[in-house]
Amino acid sequence: MCGIIGFTGNCDAKEVLIYGLKTLEYRGYDSAGIAFFADGKIKTVKTVGKVDILADKVATEVFDATECGIGHTRWATHGGVTEVNSHPHTAGRVTLIHNGIIENYQKLQEELEKQGRKPVSQTDTEIAALVFDSIYNGDPYETIRKGCEKLEGAYGFCIMFADRPGEIYAIRNGSPLVATLSDKGAVIASDMVALIKYSKDYFVLPEHMIAKLTKDAVEVTDLKGNEVKPEMLHVNWDIAAARKGGYDYFMLKEIHEQPQAISKTISPRIKDGMPDFTSDGIDDSLFKDLSRIIIVGCGTAMHAGLVGRELIEKFARIQVNVEIASEFRYADPILDEKTLVIAISQSGETADTKAAIEIAKKSGSKTLSIVNVKGSSIARESDYVLYTHAGPEIAVASTKAYTVQLSAMYLLAFKLGYINGKLSKEAVKGLVSCLRKVPSDLEQILKYDKQIETISNILTKAEDLFFIGRGLDYTLSCEGSLKLKEISYIHSEAYAAGELKHGTISLITDNIPVIAIATQKHVIQKTISNVKECRSRGANVILITNEGESVDPALCDHQITIPKMDDRFAPFSVAVIVQYLAYYTSVHRGLNVDQPRNLAKSVTVE
Ligand code: M6R
Repeated sequence: MCGIIGFTGNCDAKEVLIYGLKTLEYRGYDSAGIAFFADGKIKTVKTVGKVDILADKVATEVFDATECGIGHTRWATHGGVTEVNSHPHTAGRVTLIHNGIIENYQKLQEELEKQGRKPVSQTDTEIAALVFDSIYNGDPYETIRKGCEKLEGAYGFCIMFADRPGEIYAIRNGSPLVATLSDKGAVIASDMVALIKYSKDYFVLPEHMIAKLTKDAVEVTDLKGNEVKPEMLHVNWDIAAARKGGYDYFMLKEIHEQPQAISKTISPRIKDGMPDFTSDGIDDSLFKDLSRIIIVGCGTAMHAGLVGRELIEKFARIQVNVEIASEFRYADPILDEKTLVIAISQSGETADTKAAIEIAKKSGSKTLSIVNVKGSSIARESDYVLYTHAGPEIAVASTKAYTVQLSAMYLLAFKLGYINGKLSKEAVKGLVSCLRKVPSDLEQILKYDKQIETISNILTKAEDLFFIGRGLDYTLSCEGSLKLKEISYIHSEAYAAGELKHGTISLITDNIPVIAIATQKHVIQKTISNVKECRSRGANVILITNEGESVDPALCDHQITIPKMDDRFAPFSVAVIVQYLAYYTSVHRGLNVDQPRNLAKSVTVE
């Protein structure tokens, strides 16, 4: 949520900032702005709309060369989408950018107004700038320390002081900030994608520590002024991974990256044909003596948890609950030391999922996270972390992050089944070899693009539609429905196929599209009966089922078949099909697939 970048070095900061904001735009895209030192003074340029508009605006003015500045791309929380509410915000000698929410901003505003300090915007961020300016006495460290003592909420700040050209200060509580030093200078940002052009080595700014960036150093100190050496991290992807690489949209590129991402995620965790997490620092004791497993996550990550539940209950016979993280954190959950809480998150920064893990830890439960972004907050907060290797996911709609999460859940379920005596070694080896085949199966499914592009024409004009399925097919219906509504803006609901007749079937009328997923052998005929019920009420049916399944052609308008396989592994193929359906529907409707309205990639606020 919100993209932040700061740069000080030996090339034009404006260019570095605009480039960085373009890479970060998926974190928020309703307005953008930069502030930089030029001619000894801080200049600010802001605009409503995308970074390209900001770039044009910057290009129309002639500024002196500048080597230090900060930039921001906004996802509005407090205050509407206006230029005055855009970041950076300036109060006196302080200019800053912010990612997060200052919860006590109203109280602070009242205090500030009594001192005659009035904000010009409606944002909580400007209040923070006013707080810092009210304290500033020429000492940035004291100002930041005392200012942060007054602030409640989540924040990642990059701050410039008018009398300290060439210097950027940063601090965070909750919201992410990563930094690096390269031969071009020092860079700090909310996400590694903005740094990769300069270095593959970086560090996560530890919470409540202050980073000072100058052109040839990044110094980190704690709030008492002691020097801190943060752990350096390395990314194993390069700049090409963060570019579209000839695809029209990042989402399409990321759909195509799935076979490779799954291979990268599972291969290092298979030894002698068995799942093995020792390179993750996880030994088998974690999987013993568990009374229950709780999986927490949001959106697509939570849907990966639904698949995880089916698998773990099937293979390991351990009770699993899947909880929406934003509900779990306020639900007073029953937790103990025999409960394993698994958090799933692509970004590793989702505020609700992070809070869920914190609650689990406080209650004495063991915590394991499945996370894509190295060094992220959820990864660091958990007792154990299993990193997925999807590389950077830029499209707001999650695709490859979901299927790598599934691949990790399969390995975990096999491991749990084996350790708890529910699966023999031979059985696990057989399952692992099926999982190893998934990337090549997906290469086949990726060739369905033209067929699905044509089929999705029947969805383009729909106002409402339904996904139905049972068991694993139901979990894929949930994901397909979310994906489609997220980027096509068509109202869509996912239903357990057998539940329709308990109310929702009254919404099935002539030409309502119903996407029925029927790949799970033990319930196919049951789902087909539900399809018949929809068909006889006039629905347009798209049926996703297995090759060779005999289906009355009158039952559906379109049938998409997946190659014959062990149906327990069908979710991967179905995932690609529903991703394509969402993608092409959005394209046909002329929408911005990668940046759907009102959304942002990483949700670091409640
Ligand atoms: O970064 P996370 O995996 O924690 O994000 C969770 C959700 O916000 C995310 O999956 C969201 O639902 C996607 N945009 C769906 O495509």
